[in-house]
Amino acid sequence: MNTLIDIISKELKQAFTDCGYDEKYGQVTVSNRPDLCQYQCNGAMAAAKEYKKAPIMIANEVVEKVNKKLFSEVTAIAPGFINIKVCPYYLTLYLEDMQHAKKYGYEEQAKGQKVIVDYGGPNVAKPLHIGHLRSAVIGESVKRLCRFAGNEVIGDVHLGDWGLQMGQIIEELRDRQPDLCYFDENYTGEYPEEAPFTISELEEIYPAGSGKSKTDEVFKERAQTATARLQEGYAPYIALWKHILNVSVADLKKNYSNLNVNFDLWLGESDAQVYIPAMIREMEEKGYARESMGALVVDIAEETDTKELPPCIVRKSDGAALYETTDLATIIQREKDYNPDRYIYVVDKRQELHFIQVFRAAKKCGLLPTEKDLFFLGFGTVNGKDGKPFKTREGGVMRLENLIAGVNEEVFKKVMSGREMAEEEAKEISKLIGIAALKYADLSNQASKDYIFDIDRFTSFEGNTGPYILYTMVRIKSILAKYAETVGQADGVIAHPFGGENESREYGAAEIDLMLTAAKFNDVIAHAYQEMAPHKICQYIYEMANAFNGFYHANKIMSEDDKHKQGEWIALITLVLHLLETCIDILGFEAPERM
Ligand code: ARG
Repeated sequence: MNTLIDIISKELKQAFTDCGYDEKYGQVTVSNRPDLCQYQCNGAMAAAKEYKKAPIMIANEVVEKVNKKLFSEVTAIAPGFINIKVCPYYLTLYLEDMQHAKKYGYEEQAKGQKVIVDYGGPNVAKPLHIGHLRSAVIGESVKRLCRFAGNEVIGDVHLGDWGLQMGQIIEELRDRQPDLCYFDENYTGEYPEEAPFTISELEEIYPAGSGKSKTDEVFKERAQTATARLQEGYAPYIALWKHILNVSVADLKKNYSNLNVNFDLWLGESDAQVYIPAMIREMEEKGYARESMGALVVDIAEETDTKELPPCIVRKSDGAALYETTDLATIIQREKDYNPDRYIYVVDKRQELHFIQVFRAAKKCGLLPTEKDLFFLGFGTVNGKDGKPFKTREGGVMRLENLIAGVNEEVFKKVMSGREMAEEEAKEISKLIGIAALKYADLSNQASKDYIFDIDRFTSFEGNTGPYILYTMVRIKSILAKYAETVGQADGVIAHPFGGENESREYGAAEIDLMLTAAKFNDVIAHAYQEMAPHKICQYIYEMANAFNGFYHANKIMSEDDKHKQGEWIALITLVLHLLETCIDILGFEAPERM
């Protein structure tokens, strides 16, 4: 379906043309004075210069000419603005079309394009912490938004599974359990299926090894050697590494799924390593890379740069590969296995330079066609009230698991306060509300900005919060259930049409406001997709929840005597509920039946 704003603009463009002016002046925008009108057109102001006429004269002519059928008001206002209100009856027709249209009238913008979303980015053997929250939450939402827009989307967790930490774990394990077969050079049997550690042991082994590496030179060298042997493919270490990976990934999956975050691919840095030698060779042979103080670098600076960008180092002087090398090789791997049209990386914005280097080097070295879009979606930090990165009360790094548990507990208290509910049910509901609180708080901020973690505010049932959105949805659900009960319809599905016979009925201001908000759905999604901005969807559902609550307080839906009107209202709020459900699904959370 065309967006409402396009339909209105079309009418105004027609009127401008009919009056002999360029149609471009007919573009309409959402009013910045909603107290006066819903939409406005400022084209007469601009046209005045070209046609050397007073803007108000042009505005008057256009208003005279415009097809009034769509509008309840089109007025020229000095010095030359055109104020517009849409006829409520027309709105009902538009909403009726939405109700029956695929995706409620949103036309897929990106059909057939394939996209890889690289998000999550956890490092194996390390528990997820608050620093992993945003990539997971924003990435999941971006993935769903792309999917809704018609993309074929692949979400890849891109594990950090190949670095020095592996050697540190191996050597620390040797110190703890020297008799394991993996450390017996003469061992020739099969390696056990069972890992020699649990996840909680692993989470202890890793920091112990990493700590020793910092203070103990001998241990550090051992860890480096073990890493090198692993990377050369030494079988016992590969076997150990697989254990580390399996134990860790099982735990990561559990934690991500508690956040309603799911990946299509569980690949990692290790999967790209096979491509490195040939990639480096080609960079050297084709002259893309040059030696610089023993290292191999690719120059990526461009003339138009406003600040100097350092070259991308692809091999250190000791021959080792770096983070950049792996990301470049991962592009080769993805090109070969998936051939996407677009790459979206959802990573901390402090890594921006890294991605500029990688993107430029990748194109320069011909790892992928230049027209392919490499997009860095950098996000800001979650801070504490002191404005510094959020910490636990003891000053440590906050584990994601504990963060989620804390939010759920806070919500649970609110759910239980002043009401009867079985504890079991309240726990389940609190989990849904907790995820919504956390994700909404994160997503409602523009991704690139930092924000302050404020559990009281995030879990409040009032204000611009996830729980408020869910509360509104639950309220709609309960009205629909009541209506279904009294009118005798099953499971709250109401197919009552909008519009219909009563073209001239009165519409209240709150009702019009709600209709207008609902009608913006396709426009909002289109912009959110274009700008990869889930916060636009948050803004929209907050606006919708407010509009619904205004409507709810202005009208007694259940005791309305005019049954036709009541039916229209039910149809309207059913649509509103469906739109909200669609939006929160894109954001990555869901609503309970009651709360
Ligand atoms: N594991 C990395 C880190 O902890 C994040 C990975 C982001 N994705 C990427 N393709 N580099 O910083």
